Amino acid sequence: MNDARATTTIGFLGTGAIAEVMIEGLLTAGAFDGDILVSRRSEHRSLELSERHASVLVAPTNQAVVDGSDIVVVSVLPDQAFDVLTALDWRSAPTVLSVIAGLEVERVTTLVGRADADVVRLIPMPPNRNGLGPLPMFPPHERIAELFADVGTIIPVTDEDTFSTFVGSSALMGFFFELVATNAAWMEDNGVAPEHAAAYSTALFHSLAGETLGLPAQELAQTADACLTAGGLNEQVLFSARKQGLFDAVKDELDAILERIQP
Ligand SMILES: NC(=O)c1ccc[n+]([C@@H]2O[C@H](COP(=O)([O-])OP(=O)(O)OC[C@H]3O[C@@H](n4cnc5c(N)ncnc54)[C@H](OP(=O)(O)O)[C@@H]3O)[C@@H](O)[C@H]2O)c1
Repeated sequence: MNDARATTTIGFLGTGAIAEVMIEGLLTAGAFDGDILVSRRSEHRSLELSERHASVLVAPTNQAVVDGSDIVVVSVLPDQAFDVLTALDWRSAPTVLSVIAGLEVERVTTLVGRADADVVRLIPMPPNRNGLGPLPMFPPHERIAELFADVGTIIPVTDEDTFSTFVGSSALMGFFFELVATNAAWMEDNGVAPEHAAAYSTALFHSLAGETLGLPAQELAQTADACLTAGGLNEQVLFSARKQGLFDAVKDELDAILERIQP
């Protein structure tokens, strides 16, 4: 345990799905030993978290979260941010850690009403619950990096337009899950027992993703072609997908995401 983890109180405005992921990640993989204050809304989740973990306390009000925390995670939906942030008094000046996709640092700074606000953006994802996955951060922030070091792989990003590209990329999560499920469903359609289809598809994609982990960019770009046998089965699927423009369509949609989230 390090000092920052023991002496910090982290508060959450919005105790939704991603807040729960971050709290579980901090308390298990992250070995966070300070206190966690959560807002009451989504009461089933906030109460359950406080029953499961002695260090998680449900705050009576959102203002109590702000006043009692060194770091306040803003984890409400984008269209809730204005009402939630502008209703609060930020004179206690906590670090504001926003996980809201598409809300720039300048906008968060305006909403909290302090030009000197210490605002950081982070993109957590569900696997951070188990200490896995990337954690892009803008701007780089030593204390947040230290606290979340074991919750995921911190990727410090120094300009916000580049950070938006990471936000855009995170939108592939649903597409990926659908691909894994589609493969399992296709196997079932062709006679494989559901439990075997699910076991095969999940283990297949998990292991293949593992093969790519840490590859340098140039090698990554060649991985698909490098696995092919001339005239083989993998070649047939890959070449067909390329010919049909599947990968171009994915990039086009990511471009559309960027347009949506950039100011
Ligand atoms: N889910 C992900 O994988 C993911 C990943 C990265 C970033 N994010 C970002 O994280 C944010 C939250 O996403 P989510 O999936 O966790 O959404 P969510 O499950 O809907 O959580 C939003 C939470 O905010 C609460 N809330 C709404 N108004 C509030 C208020 N006035 N005071 C206190 N709490 C309030 C909601 O409570 P009620 O249920 O009572 O309305 C709910 O608990 C979004 O901005 C999203 O862009 C999500």
